[in-house]
Amino acid sequence: MKLCISFSVILLISVCNPANAGSRPVSRKDSPAGFILHSETEPEFIWGLIPNPNYKAPSGRTGRFLDTSSSVGKQDLVKQNNNSDDDLVKENDDGKGSLHKATKYNARYPLTPPSLRFKFGVIADLDKKSLSGGGQEFKAYLKEGFIKVAQNLEKPEESEIDVEWKPESEIQIIKTGFNYGGRGLELSTLNVFNGKIYSCGDKTGIVFELLVNDTSIDVTPVPWAILADGNSSSGKGFKCEWATVKDESLWIGGHGTSGGHKYLKIVSPSGQVEHVDWTQNYAKLAAAVKISSPGYLTNEAAAWSETLKKWVFAPRKISKEAFKEETDERSGSNTVLIADEDFNEIQMIKVGELIPTHGFSSIKFIPGTEDKIMVGIKSVEAENETESYIMAFDLKGNVLLNETLFASDKYEGVEFF
Ligand SMILES: *[C@@H]1O[C@H](CO)[C@@H](O)[C@H](O)[C@H]1NC(C)=O
Ligand SMILES: *[C@@H]1O[C@H](CO)[C@@H](O)[C@H](O)[C@H]1NC(C)=O
Ligand SMILES: *[C@@H]1O[C@H](CO)[C@@H](O)[C@H](O)[C@H]1NC(C)=O
Ligand SMILES: *[C@@H]1O[C@H](CO)[C@@H](O)[C@H](O)[C@H]1NC(C)=O
Ligand SMILES: *[C@@H]1O[C@H](CO)[C@@H](O)[C@H](O)[C@H]1NC(C)=O
Repeated sequence: MKLCISFSVILLISVCNPANAGSRPVSRKDSPAGFILHSETEPEFIWGLIPNPNYKAPSGRTGRFLDTSSSVGKQDLVKQNNNSDDDLVKENDDGKGSLHKATKYNARYPLTPPSLRFKFGVIADLDKKSLSGGGQEFKAYLKEGFIKVAQNLEKPEESEIDVEWKPESEIQIIKTGFNYGGRGLELSTLNVFNGKIYSCGDKTGIVFELLVNDTSIDVTPVPWAILADGNSSSGKGFKCEWATVKDESLWIGGHGTSGGHKYLKIVSPSGQVEHVDWTQNYAKLAAAVKISSPGYLTNEAAAWSETLKKWVFAPRKISKEAFKEETDERSGSNTVLIADEDFNEIQMIKVGELIPTHGFSSIKFIPGTEDKIMVGIKSVEAENETESYIMAFDLKGNVLLNETLFASDKYEGVEFF
């Protein structure tokens, strides 16, 4: 069947019918490229060109050369073309035998791939700048936009991702009085969980439910759970840095660098907290990038894929040396680690250019992409400067949206609403 279709592109349809084909007189003309077979009854039709095996095709002409025999007829042509459409070549009008690659019928329809558009948001960790209202109040921003995905299933690396932000005037403001030692609302995670939106502050360890209201720019943060540091025998709040939904619970992690930060908090939909020592998992991630103490990995971006049954960690920083503020600022990473559920098999990919001051602060799978495409926020915190960039990549390491600056504040959480 395929043979008939491919012939019909440039040859007479009747070639498909051997009885018919056999009755047609054919003449042969030599050209530098090979033989050109003409139909004598319909001379304007060119039946095909069988190139000389010694002829070198001009570049760009990739039609496969066939073995030829001195007495090629239509039937031979049919027999010889039982493999690929690429074997069919056609003569130019000038009769000089220049080759055209015969192409398959292009069944692409419609021409523009379908695209999905998702509402999403990013949340700011303003650090010390979050203090407002004369020291009594702490604030953070929730900035919303839309991500458009035109996924190219045949060539995933050519999928198109576009980001459109709502105007600056619509940036939503979150305010609270809750703080720990004068620091509050330094939000670093953003998750839809159990049908609600949650964010955790990295000084207080308070997980807030965010009441986002489309008709108002004010977001009310409702304190929901308080996470204590480490194994929960400490008086400090947990320094939450990343969060993902797994097994219908909200899994909240820290940097994974030292003691209490190596604990994982598993929060159930009713707010019950389980404290799990993740020292081993963080050690396996570090080993995968050949980092050992006093070197370190700082984790702020991680996501569990229920579809792939894989963890994805995009370390914000990877340092071979012990922590020092000056070197830490320049230890940004473009490494993404893909691990099985137990962190026993870890694959490493590089995503985009390595810019030493840029590191991942949040990643999420883009819905509708079968967990093949992720959006990432990279942030910069060097000297007094902060910046935030958005990018998109697939798990093969193709960058689908280059790092794009979107704020001069530090945003640390991204989520689809
Ligand atoms: C045609 O197909 C047969 C069987 O698949 C194969 O052995 C033969 O090599 C093919 N002919 C050409 C010219 O590729
Ligand atoms: C949203 O905000 C408006 C105006 O402040 C208020 O009238 C409305 O009740 C709010 N809606 C929800 C669901 O909180
Ligand atoms: C928690 O950790 C502290 C300090 O590492 C340790 O002294 C204590 O025994 C631990 N408590 C529990 C319940 O594991
Ligand atoms: C950073 O800010 C501090 C205090 O505002 C200032 O003293 C310092 O010079 C600034 N550094 C740079 C590199 O701008
Ligand atoms: C990203 O930038 C590079 C270098 O400027 C460019 O070659 C590449 O096409 C860009 N990628 C995308 C997805 O826009």
